[in-house]
Parts: sequence; structure tokens; C-alpha cells
Amino acid sequence: MEIIRTVSEMKAAAAAFRAEGLSAGLVPTMGSLHEGHMSLVRKAVSENDRTVVSIFVNPIQFEAHEDFGSYPRDMAKDSELCERASVDVVFNPSAREMYPDGFHSYVDMSVLTEGLCGARRPNHFRGVCTVVSKLFNITYPRRAYFGQKDAQQLAVIKRMVLDLNMDVEVVGMPVIREADGLAMSSRNAYLNDEERADAAYICKALSEASRLFDEGERDIRRIERHIGELLSKIPSIALEYAEIVDAKTMRPPDGDHGEIICAVAARVGKTRLIDNVRLK
Ligand code: PAF
Repeated sequence: MEIIRTVSEMKAAAAAFRAEGLSAGLVPTMGSLHEGHMSLVRKAVSENDRTVVSIFVNPIQFEAHEDFGSYPRDMAKDSELCERASVDVVFNPSAREMYPDGFHSYVDMSVLTEGLCGARRPNHFRGVCTVVSKLFNITYPRRAYFGQKDAQQLAVIKRMVLDLNMDVEVVGMPVIREADGLAMSSRNAYLNDEERADAAYICKALSEASRLFDEGERDIRRIERHIGELLSKIPSIALEYAEIVDAKTMRPPDGDHGEIICAVAARVGKTRLIDNVRLK
């Protein structure tokens, strides 16, 4: 496995794959890899001739008051996990390499980014769209893999690929959970024991939403309120939103067609976690 730190070397490696007629799968990450990431990596390895994992904590997708500085970083462990999973290249550029002096171009999106996380993190999706576009241009993947835990991110990236005619197949992969249901996330590492135990209630509340929906409840406001009531009983949890939306438009469902999800963002102590469940 090769670790590449410059854009020019990564572009050269990707061009060599292409020249040899080899397909490349890209797994974009911010590192601190866990089983959720590794499920994407395994899928990429199984579907492509070459697999590239990018590890880059992208400064421009964090708001000024957020955890960019303290975001967990463990390059040694991440490289070992990638090596064992038969990854071909880890692309690990510095912020200066990705955003050199004079960098002024951004990829922005309206509508899809206006609700849910986008409403609370106004610069976040501009940062995500910009870095993912750059990663696509640098690594030329045939397929790119993203987790469904970040449901709005997945919808935004699918839309961007469509709108900007990018030649990449975006593959969404199921949420991977701990034994008690907590969705795996690098930010779970911030939780103390009590918060860690409480965090499992997010998934329990989502299961309740699923149960109500399966039993025929179609008043989505009632389901959203129910989740709010359940989570308000857990002292360390402050709910940001619980919303039932169409997975493609991130808007309230329009009738009974399309994929419908219930998405939650909550602070557990100081840690912001997101999760969602597919209702239909
Ligand atoms: O989901 C993430 O880890 C990040 O948002 C991504 C897609 C790697 C872009 O920095």
C-alpha cells in the first residue's frame, strides 16, 4: 500500500490506473476509521480494481466554533487498518496542499442544503461539496462510497454529481451500529461513560418512529413530536431536530412515494451526533 501526500503524485497514480484500464473506487474519509468506514472500504475493494482511501480532516466544512482542532486523528492506526483491508493507496494531503494560498473556488448548493444539518451548519455543505469535487478531480474514481448515516450529505453529493455531470457512481452504504444500536461515528470517542450510555437512546427513539410508521401512523408531525418527547427525558441529550423527510429532496415527503427517512441530530453533552432510519 502506498501513502500519497501530494495532489500531483495522487493525480499521477490515478492516471496510471486509468492508462492500464483499471477501475478505481474512492472512499473519502476524515480518518479515525471505524467499522462504518471499513464497511465502505470492503465494498470498494470488492467492486474495483484499485481502492483509494482519502484521509483528510477538511477545515472548510467545520464552522468556526466547531471541533476541527480536536477532531480525532490517528494516521498510524488508520494506515494499518487500510493496509489490512487491501487498500492500494491512502491519500493523506495537508490542508495547505488542498487549499494553497490564493484558493478561492467553492462548490455550493441551494435547496437541498437549506434544512436539517445545513440550517444549523451554514458553511458545512459548501465545504463538503468543494472537497469531494476536488477529491473526484484528483483521484478520478469510477465509484465513490459514502455512509447513509450522513443522509443529507449523501443526498447532496448525489445531486452534485448529477447537476455537474460528474462521471462517478455514488454508492450509499447502510449505517453500521454498535451492539446497543448507537450509530458508529468518529465523534463517539468524545462521549464519557454516562453520555455513551445515553447516546443509545437516539437509536431507540428512531426505532420507535419506525414502529409507529409500520403501524400505519402517517401524521409525520406526531411521530417527530413523539421522538422529541422520548429524547427530552434523557438528561444529557439536547435534540436539535427530528424530521421525517424524503431521502432525495430532504423535504417533507410528498405523498407515499419515494424513500422516506426519519433523521435526528442531537447533542449528547457537548457532542453533536446524527442518525437516521429508513421508514419506507
Ligand atoms: O463524511 C465525511 O467524513 C466527510 O464529510 C467527507 C465526505 C470525507 C468530506 O470531508
